[in-house]
Amino acid sequence: MDTNVVIYYFSGTGNAKRLTTMAADRLHAGGHAVEVRSIEEPGLSPCHDQASWHGFAFPVYCFGVPRIMRRFLENLPPVTDKRAFLLVSTGCEVEGIPMPPTEGRCLPIGRGILADKGYAVVGGTSAPMPNTWIMAVNAPTPEQTTQVVARAECHVQAFIDQVMAGQELWKPTSRIWGPMERLLNPLFQSRGLSRLPRLMRVDGTCTGCGICAQVCPTGNITLVDGRPTWSDRCEQCMRCFQFCPQEAVQSTFIGRTEGRRRYHDPGLTVRELTR
Ligand SMILES: Cc1cc2nc3c(=O)[nH]c(=O)nc-3n(C[C@H](O)[C@H](O)[C@H](O)COP(=O)(O)O)c2cc1C
Repeated sequence: MDTNVVIYYFSGTGNAKRLTTMAADRLHAGGHAVEVRSIEEPGLSPCHDQASWHGFAFPVYCFGVPRIMRRFLENLPPVTDKRAFLLVSTGCEVEGIPMPPTEGRCLPIGRGILADKGYAVVGGTSAPMPNTWIMAVNAPTPEQTTQVVARAECHVQAFIDQVMAGQELWKPTSRIWGPMERLLNPLFQSRGLSRLPRLMRVDGTCTGCGICAQVCPTGNITLVDGRPTWSDRCEQCMRCFQFCPQEAVQSTFIGRTEGRRRYHDPGLTVRELTR
């Protein structure tokens, strides 16, 4: 059997893109035709394609779907005869930090939106990847990163094999994530996204190169007198922290970011993000 598959992804720092690549490689190996599309591509016109399967990959932000991805899903046109799957990248446990990896309610939320559009949503899963919310936690060491990514690859391959074999496969959502997401995600969406950027600043090592502004998915950063300033359209994707070549972007929220490990997946590049 060969099937046409398109995977649409949003990825702040490359993890969800990495899961997408893992899935695409597995699909290719299984004889399927695969196309991978970033939802940030200018002029992307989703779903006007011949693919019978659509995959959607994105990270979890505060137990829910990132606002930028949710808008994309909600703006999809209605479809008929299309199947879909969901892939969510989560954080991983590092250094005893009290934020256990969880995709929260991403799967039921994504499934609900897609089902309303007419998709037969066949499955969804999540895979722990390196933590990227540097405002709250440290990224894992390079050694831990290698292990975490290898585990994710096995998980994604097994998921793709099962789903493409026609088995419905959903990672169960724990009952505690419903109340957590309903309590904390609205706060994150309203106050978090507008106020957290006020905590962002650069230290004296900033060279004014402007990479932070180039990689920002919403054009939320402008350089004033050679220094970045953040406005209120932040998605909290952490690109400005994680792609800064000087590691000059800092904040004080859950602790200070100075000295925390920086991380982005090497498969997501400044060049690709600079459009
Ligand atoms: C603003 C923000 C909120 C996050 N919330 C969660 C969360 O609720 N649960 C979790 O396991 N990881 C959480 N993370 C970690 C990311 O989901 C995780 O590192 C993911 O793999 C990042 O994928 P990306 O590189 O494609 O952006 C959060 C990260 C950010 C930036």
